Amino acid sequence: MKAVVYSVKPFEKKFLAKANQKKHDITLISNPLSLETSIYAEGKDAVIVFTNDDVSAEVIKRLAYLGIRFIATRSAGTDHIDREAAGQYEIKVANVPHYSPQAIAEHSVALAFALNRKLIKADKNSHHFNFKNDELIGFNFSGKTVGLIGLGNTGLAAAAIYHGLGCNVIGYDLNFPTDTSIIKQVSLEDLYALSNIISLHVPLTPATKHLIDKDALDTMKDGVMLINTSRGALLKTTDVAAALQSGKIGYLGLDVYEFEKGLFFEDHENDTVKDILLTELMQYDNVLVTPHQAYLTEEALQEISNQTIKNLDLWQQNKCVGKACACAKNCQTVL
Ligand code: NAI
Repeated sequence: MKAVVYSVKPFEKKFLAKANQKKHDITLISNPLSLETSIYAEGKDAVIVFTNDDVSAEVIKRLAYLGIRFIATRSAGTDHIDREAAGQYEIKVANVPHYSPQAIAEHSVALAFALNRKLIKADKNSHHFNFKNDELIGFNFSGKTVGLIGLGNTGLAAAAIYHGLGCNVIGYDLNFPTDTSIIKQVSLEDLYALSNIISLHVPLTPATKHLIDKDALDTMKDGVMLINTSRGALLKTTDVAAALQSGKIGYLGLDVYEFEKGLFFEDHENDTVKDILLTELMQYDNVLVTPHQAYLTEEALQEISNQTIKNLDLWQQNKCVGKACACAKNCQTVL
């Protein structure tokens, strides 16, 4: 199969090469997919994209015109793809539904640890030979209530870590898992009211967009810790900024940002105009922002590449990609 991989980072190349073993004719380009860069897809069968690529209806229409029949995303989330439009043009869509939930869960807990024990401030001070510790007081995780919203792959992996720390783990999911004994099922309202730490593990959908807004924040504990490694738009970020200012939110850990497209994954240090809302958030000591790196472990990167190539293998053999099928109307029975 001929494919073009958009938004490739130099560090991804070795993982893709190892997974592909020259089976597919793959062109790697660093540009993100957009209407302008869609031209690179000419003559290919598939495009392979990432989370901040533009896979809107307009771009899909162009890809269909160029002969593309498959879109594979190197991510679990598919919110960047207009799957309905892909279906309309009979383009099949696949994701990587389960590559290394531990990578994401560990990063979300790392954010929580670093915020609690003020590691960034402590490290900065230490580098200046300021070893005062007056402002570095944290709390024990043991005994605290952690509320997990979303109990799929990453939510369950986070639950296992928090349980191991001695936390009281409560959770909310539309499809609450039946095979867990370490998470107490609660309503969303109770989760907001009871949790010291809230960690988000749901996909971005119309139902979850701006899940955390002023109304939700008002019902949370004062000084709550909020961790988001899922998708930026789960938070209404302007409401979150107000809650930080009022002290409602005591700690904020973000690996994703509502307006990260065109910003994250690139160096914008020398931009004269910087994102105002993100700048506002980052002025607080109790805010920690990482650039969408929760997935970034050696193991996860290899698994993402392996499964992406496997999706191409199966499509080439006219077979179903199974759980990786992300077509708007699940096509597992059609192929
Ligand atoms: P998953 O599909 O295994 O689990 C998602 C869970 O959310 C499911 O159990 C589902 O029932 C639940 N859910 C869906 N809509 C809901 C709603 N409206 N209310 C309550 N529960 C709902 O997904 P996984 O692997 O746990 O990943 C979660 C999200 O994390 C992904 O969709 C992706 O956006 C994000 N992600 C971020 C990464 C990063 O590097 N920052 C890496 C991987 C995933």
